[in-house]
Amino acid sequence: MNTIKKNQATLILIKPDGLKKSLTGNILTRMAETKLEIAAAKMVRVSEELAAEHYKHLKDKPFFDELIRYLRGELHDRKKVMAMVYWGEEAIKKVREMAGATNPEEADPVSIRGAYGRITTKGLYENVIHASSNEEEAKREIQLWFAPDEIIVDLYPAKTIVEKEYKRRVWDTSA
Ligand code: PPS
Repeated sequence: MNTIKKNQATLILIKPDGLKKSLTGNILTRMAETKLEIAAAKMVRVSEELAAEHYKHLKDKPFFDELIRYLRGELHDRKKVMAMVYWGEEAIKKVREMAGATNPEEADPVSIRGAYGRITTKGLYENVIHASSNEEEAKREIQLWFAPDEIIVDLYPAKTIVEKEYKRRVWDTSA
């Protein structure tokens, strides 16, 4: 009997070290092996607020401040990340497998983090990419990084609002 596997969305960030090491093409090629669809992609200059919100569950960790500086590109002189939404069957698991373990020293050597990540002398993981860990986090992260109209799949409920005569769609969290 065939098990029906659910389509999922997941957020991938190519972090500033990945951009500095010119790994974008390589990462996209590896991700193509998953046969998932790219549902959204953009370059982002990461504000302090965005970085802190993204990693808010880690705010009490000793490496939090350095992690924020890392995501903002302050450690690599690359003040941008590439943010993408991948979509398809078992997307979260497939992308996490391709990314490898969070700790680059523990990651499979042929995974993206295993091949290209490192741990700094301060103990920070510079692991090249971020990938959502579960469906709840994926939803939270995708809604944080993307507006509804930036994604070519209707992932979550959205609504149109009027703001000072300027119309745009925002996430409808009440739906
Ligand atoms: S948790 O609480 O361990 O489940 O957090 P997790 O979701 O795994 O995310 C941890 C993120 O912090 C980055 N980071 C580190 N984690 C642990 N130890 C050290 N020293 C460290 N340095 C950085 C780690 O890479 C995770 O970020 P992402 O972007 O998901 O890789």
